[in-house]
Amino acid sequence: MRDKVYALIKNRNKPRLELFAHRIIAWQQQHGRHGLPWQGADVYRIWLSEIMLQQTQVVTVIPYYLRFVARFPTIAALAADSEDAVLAHWSGLGYYSRARNLHRAAQLIMQRHEGKFPQHFEDILALPGIGRSTAAAISALAFHERCAILDGNVKRVLTRYHAIEGYTGEKKIEAQLWQQAEALLPQRNVAVYTQGLMDLGALICSRSKPQCPICPLQADCAAYQNEWVAQLPTPRPRKVLPEKHSTFLLLLNGSDILLEKRPGSGIWGGLWCPPQVDPGILSTATNPSTYCLQHFGTEIIHTLALSTFTHTFTHFKLHITPILLQVINKPTQIQESDMVWVNVSDALRAAIPTPVSKLLQEIQTGRRAL
Ligand code: ADE
Ligand code: SF4
Repeated sequence: MRDKVYALIKNRNKPRLELFAHRIIAWQQQHGRHGLPWQGADVYRIWLSEIMLQQTQVVTVIPYYLRFVARFPTIAALAADSEDAVLAHWSGLGYYSRARNLHRAAQLIMQRHEGKFPQHFEDILALPGIGRSTAAAISALAFHERCAILDGNVKRVLTRYHAIEGYTGEKKIEAQLWQQAEALLPQRNVAVYTQGLMDLGALICSRSKPQCPICPLQADCAAYQNEWVAQLPTPRPRKVLPEKHSTFLLLLNGSDILLEKRPGSGIWGGLWCPPQVDPGILSTATNPSTYCLQHFGTEIIHTLALSTFTHTFTHFKLHITPILLQVINKPTQIQESDMVWVNVSDALRAAIPTPVSKLLQEIQTGRRAL
């Protein structure tokens, strides 16, 4: 009895903290992001934005998103167009499997769901390119379903709020975070809550320099209260990326360049690239000119090796050495294969990866002249 009285006295002057979710909702309404082009739009647009936002920031996504929906305004339009056209509108955003999966998913929605984006979580999750968190985000934002998300932003907020140590890519830690994410879900206002969590992670609880003094979670955030914010989330265990080398053969005839379509899977799947060779193939016996004559039937009149640069993928580093090769003929049999001669300015509008785009721009503006 006495303990109870003491507890009452002790707590008398302590303001009661609102629930986690209520604070997130109130904060989103006042300080979160409003008026993004996909907010309040149809489920196709919400789906598209979630896919684009998977590995890319909002400011980068917006112009791509607007061009994409202008060209493919409906799921039916997206499904009916070619993969090449879809990839061309993704060109520069990176992680191209996202675009190929989006296109395939649109075709599956036409076949399986009569062109209507599915409403059930399990059906959404079954579509290519949609994992648990993305399916939950679409369900919550478009259909107001009570589903928990756990993307990079949310992982950061939760590891800090609960002071959870350990790399978040680890199965055990991830399972713990999913459990927390589910436990914190509100009964109502799930769409605003979901947007709020994402916004808080991006705008306040950022990786470096989080704004704890103005954060709605500050009063009971374990990391902030214990001064562990800078240590959390625990970084990925350092792993040296394997390194690979590739030589890009930039065959130029006037302002035309030879490009080949890469196989559908693997890096830059389905995108157009200059022919590539393993540098080991080239030697004094098989120099680039001999190689090109043998493989493409092209006669080289001028060769210039450019400086090597590095492109980093998730799983390896690629050192690229471009070689400019001026050719005097355009063998016709090439046009019948998956290789084409195209004008450099047309190539820049096609589905090409970012490093190729940069090289072509340099060629076009004369910064990399022969
Ligand atoms: N990141 C992933 N989804 C997002 C969204 N709907 N708004 C802002 N950032 C996001
Ligand atoms: Fe993140 Fe700081 Fe807010 Fe904690 S108080 S959730 S660390 S911004």
